[in-house]
Amino acid sequence: MLMSPCQLPPIGALKSRVVMAAMTRGFAGPGHVATADMAEYYGRRADSGVGLILTEGTIIDQSGDGYNGVPYIATPEQTDSWRQVVERVHAGDGKIFSQLWHCGRISHSDFTGGEPPVSSTNRAAEGHNRQNDKPFGAPRALETGEMPAVYGLFRHAAENAMSAGFDGVQLHMGHGYLVDQFFDARVNDRTDAYGGSVANRCRFALELLELILADLGPDKVAVRISPSRFMGELYDWPDVDEMLDYLIPALEKLGLKMLDISCANADYFETSGRVIRQVRSRWRGVLMGGASLSVEQAEQELSDGFLDLVTWGRHILANSDFAAKVSDGRDIEPFDPAMLGSLN
Ligand SMILES: Cc1cc2nc3c(=O)[nH]c(=O)nc-3n(C[C@H](O)[C@H](O)[C@H](O)COP(=O)(O)O)c2cc1C
Repeated sequence: MLMSPCQLPPIGALKSRVVMAAMTRGFAGPGHVATADMAEYYGRRADSGVGLILTEGTIIDQSGDGYNGVPYIATPEQTDSWRQVVERVHAGDGKIFSQLWHCGRISHSDFTGGEPPVSSTNRAAEGHNRQNDKPFGAPRALETGEMPAVYGLFRHAAENAMSAGFDGVQLHMGHGYLVDQFFDARVNDRTDAYGGSVANRCRFALELLELILADLGPDKVAVRISPSRFMGELYDWPDVDEMLDYLIPALEKLGLKMLDISCANADYFETSGRVIRQVRSRWRGVLMGGASLSVEQAEQELSDGFLDLVTWGRHILANSDFAAKVSDGRDIEPFDPAMLGSLN
């Protein structure tokens, strides 16, 4: 099932059910553009049989940056630079979505043009930012009236992605970044309509999604959330059951058709696999997930109906021909952090 071509509304024809998960690599060119090397890197994965590629997190505007060497999709030059990537993946008969990313407080003014990063809160993230070897910057809590401007940055980036030829966009709403800073009761300390109750903490995501769905149409939009994950520690949203009870039907009601439930790099069965079992009966759209699953586990998740598409990150990073190796039953090269140093 995993390696069989499929027709999967809303995405259409896919070479396989193998999805390359979004992975930040930090090899953007000067001016935060995508490069020919990046096009080849993604193209090799499409050639090998990956059905759908989710790009590395791509910054929607400098105010949402937080990392070294990451690509943007904000200006005409940055948008144009992505065309070579999309064309190369399409030449390999793959589909490709742009992952739209705003880091929120997981940043520092070093990355945001000297302005404090924005967030749901004005409390800084704990811990050390390895990107600039400093503590995370003190964020500025967005004013209630500023939300439409932030949605506007996402909308502009999404339109840019469509004009670059992407098959769709994935809104990054997980892993402790901006949208998750609204979801997560441990971070969101607001007293306005965007904080407090479950409905209020979901408001930012839902208002944003409604606009993107209206702009692009439902067949072009996926969302990534991570209600249970590893990010320095293993944890679930504090009120994960209430959140899922509210959020999943709300996403579906807005017309979302593709949901990616991530656990960052935790054990799938302890984290997102658990969430997927909880939401599957209530979610009729395409569900994707995974984290370093074995081929047998992936096949089982598909045949049990928990997943429609299986995501892999590090296996695909380590093996440009991962999908071909799966097809042929060949062993895969284990991921080694040293591989992060080049774009193979
Ligand atoms: C080097 C690296 C970079 C990552 N960057 C992103 C990212 O930009 N956006 C995102 O949503 N997840 C990111 N992730 C998480 C992966 O998408 C994936 O969820 C995680 O690696 C677990 O899957 P795996 O066990 O198959 O690697 C990254 C993971 C790795 C290893």
